[in-house]
Amino acid sequence: MSRLEISNVTAHYEGAAAPVLANVSLALGAGEFVAVIGRSGCGKTTLLNLAAGFAFPTSGRLTLDGQPVRGPGPERAVVFQDDALFPWLSAVDNVAFGLQLKGVPKNDRREAARGLLARVGLAGLDERPIWRLSGGQRQRLGLARALAIEPAFLLMDEPLGALDAMTREHMQQLLLDIFLATRAGILLITHSIEEALFLATRVVVMAPNPGRIVRTLDVDFSRRVRAGESARAVKSAPDFIEARAELLDLVFEREAQ
Ligand SMILES: Nc1ncnc2c1ncn2[C@@H]1O[C@H](COP(=O)(O)OP(=O)(O)O)[C@@H](O)[C@H]1O
Ligand SMILES: [Mg+2]
Repeated sequence: MSRLEISNVTAHYEGAAAPVLANVSLALGAGEFVAVIGRSGCGKTTLLNLAAGFAFPTSGRLTLDGQPVRGPGPERAVVFQDDALFPWLSAVDNVAFGLQLKGVPKNDRREAARGLLARVGLAGLDERPIWRLSGGQRQRLGLARALAIEPAFLLMDEPLGALDAMTREHMQQLLLDIFLATRAGILLITHSIEEALFLATRVVVMAPNPGRIVRTLDVDFSRRVRAGESARAVKSAPDFIEARAELLDLVFEREAQ
């Protein structure tokens, strides 16, 4: 059972007087879907970079199953907003790339990659070059590539932010399916309050100056979708609308200060 723990973390950027994050604590376990929201500049990406092991705190601790995080690792896959795909590789080879690093033989990794492409709804596009894929298809590909290494954690920084509304809804459903199938611990940064509420098991609200957590809310709307309620019904249920209003107030109230 994997557990990523961020304990009382403070972080600074070089040259900045004030900390970018102050006393942030957050734990992420298998089967948990944590969504982080908050206005631009409140440190969400910085938090994800710390969790990924790309950056390090000034004080506080980050641990993985009790061991200090010393850098990136294959148990933590990262999906960025702007796809970080290899444009010179085909769809299938982009997905197979991580498996190549793991030493999986060529035919096996291509077969696994094709299975993953099918899983994210890209069956038949295996040999297609990246430049012939739409934005939504690229995000699916980025997700397939992250899943290829069977990570215990999926860390995502506004992965759906650049997509149109329809594609975004499809991708939300895909994220839910993946969460259910893999039980990976998911950390999702999003600027959509609705998306956070709809997908997460826990919503974390951050505020800026310094970046900090101001509210944590356990929610179970995604469980209702899994239990068979339609996405539309869940999103228009009175308790969903109430929670959304509360979070909106919280984010805007902080913004007004
Ligand atoms: N590499 C960097 N060097 C200096 N300051 C940075 C750097 N990256 C981000 N910042 C600053 O840190 C704050 C938080 O940034 P970020 O983590 O990107 O917030 P968010 O993702 O919530 O928009 C912002 O004020 C931003 O300008
Ligand atoms: Mg950001």
